[in-house]
This record gives sequence, C-alpha cells and structure tokens, in this order.
Amino acid sequence: MVEIMLPKNSRVKKGKVWPAEKAANGKKPKRTKEFKVYRYNPDAGGNPTMDTYTVDLDSCGPMVLDALIKIKNEIDPTLSFRRSCREGVCGSCAMNIAGGNTLACTKAINDCTGAVSVYPLPHMPVVKDLVPDLTGFYAQYASIQPYLKTSTAEPEKEWKQSPQDRAKLDGLYECILCASCSTACPSYWWNSDRYLGPAALLQSYRWLIDSRDEATGERLDDLEDPFRLYRCHTIMNCTNTCPKGLNPAQAIGEIKQMMVKRKA
Ligand code: SF4
Ligand code: FES
Repeated sequence: MVEIMLPKNSRVKKGKVWPAEKAANGKKPKRTKEFKVYRYNPDAGGNPTMDTYTVDLDSCGPMVLDALIKIKNEIDPTLSFRRSCREGVCGSCAMNIAGGNTLACTKAINDCTGAVSVYPLPHMPVVKDLVPDLTGFYAQYASIQPYLKTSTAEPEKEWKQSPQDRAKLDGLYECILCASCSTACPSYWWNSDRYLGPAALLQSYRWLIDSRDEATGERLDDLEDPFRLYRCHTIMNCTNTCPKGLNPAQAIGEIKQMMVKRKA
C-alpha cells in the first residue's frame, strides 16, 4: 500500500461504501467500475478511510479524472481533489492511481484492472482527501532560481539561441511540475527537507544547460551539497513514473557530470 504522511498512529480504515449509481434509464447500469478513494479530513479528526464508489461507465468520460468529477458532482460533493486543464498540461491532478503516481486526467479507466485505488501523492502532508500540501515542493522549485540569469548587457531585442542549443532544452521544458516523480522517490520521502528531488533537479538542469544563462557556476555551487543533489541514488522511480515521459534521472546524472567536469 502507498505510504502517506499522516498524524502519528494513523491507520487507514475501511470507509463508507456508497450506493451504486443507477443508469440514466433508472435501471441497473451495464458497465460499472469500483473506485476506492482515500478520504481524510483533518478538521473532522479521526483516521483516514477508503471510501468505495461504484460508477456507471456508460455515463462517464474515459479518464480517472472524469470518474472523480462524476463522483463529486453526482454522488459525494464532499470529495476534494485538484484539477484544472483536463489535458495533462497544468499538473494539478497528480495523484497515486492503481499503484502509481500519474495524472488523473490522462490515466484511462480502461487501463486500470479491477477496483481502482486512488490516493494522494505519497509522503506529502495531506490537506484534505486527494489534495497534498505542495508548499515545500514549490519552495524547492523557487530555490533553484528558475529563470534566465545573465551578467552581460541586455541585447536590444531578444537573447538569441541557435536551433542546436534550443534543442538541448527538449525533454526538460515540458515538465509541468506535477510532483509525480519527486513523490515516487524513496530518497525524497526520507530527506525531502534537504534533498531537492527529481522535479526541482530536472528544472535546475533546464537552466544549467540553457546557452543563454550566465550563472552556471553559481547554480552548480548551490547544488554542491551532500543532500541537495547527491541524495539521488538512481533508483529510477522518477523516470518510470513521469506522466510526460521525461527523464529526471538522466538530468540529475548530467548535473553530476557537470560537477565532475568543472573540478577536472
Ligand atoms: S519531471 Fe515529469 S513527473 Fe516530474 S514534475 Fe516534471 S512532469 Fe511531473
Ligand atoms: S487537470 Fe491539468 S494535468 Fe490533469
């Protein structure tokens, strides 16, 4: 089972089994799917539970997010989760579905066998239900200074970049900061206060490799630390789970090589 940061001695208990939906014609639906959803409300006190919802698939969209929206709209309005774009762009619907971190809006219900388990991203404080507290995650992103840093005089127009140098940003700029990778990483689980984690490090490499940026040395100095960078042990969960098909483990490896080269 996914480990989630909870108050001491918390145990996830069996929750409410909600009555199965009826089909639009009032009869028993032909195709249904069970969703076992993590519920936790710190204001109400008590342990978290796993509630069971049975959704009529013939009146539901194809993605897990469609089912969650249907549950919230038609079965249980108290269910909390984040979402915005519904097309894998904003990163806000990241959660642990059927045993893996991914985006609810791009995870097809048909790709989940049996009852679909839905948890918040692992090892993060839970605000409510499927909503993790990402304050620390965003603070780490801010700490890598994710913007162009230059020391030469500004050009009259734009900072120019060759197509070859621009191509080096492919596989990096597409990161939507969903946090799926960092929260799948055991090193990050145990040291998230000091290890930056795969998402922030991939973003850091995105600026380190940008031909227009002039703060490479300063950026590397900032990562020269036993924890911020070097707590990566190439476990590869990050790359395996990234719903955008990116490779944070490779980006981290590239940073380590930059460290070695500058010392040589
Ligand atoms: S690298 Fe992938 S999993 Fe990690 S934050 Fe970016 S998009 Fe999400
Ligand atoms: S709702 Fe935006 S990525 Fe899923």
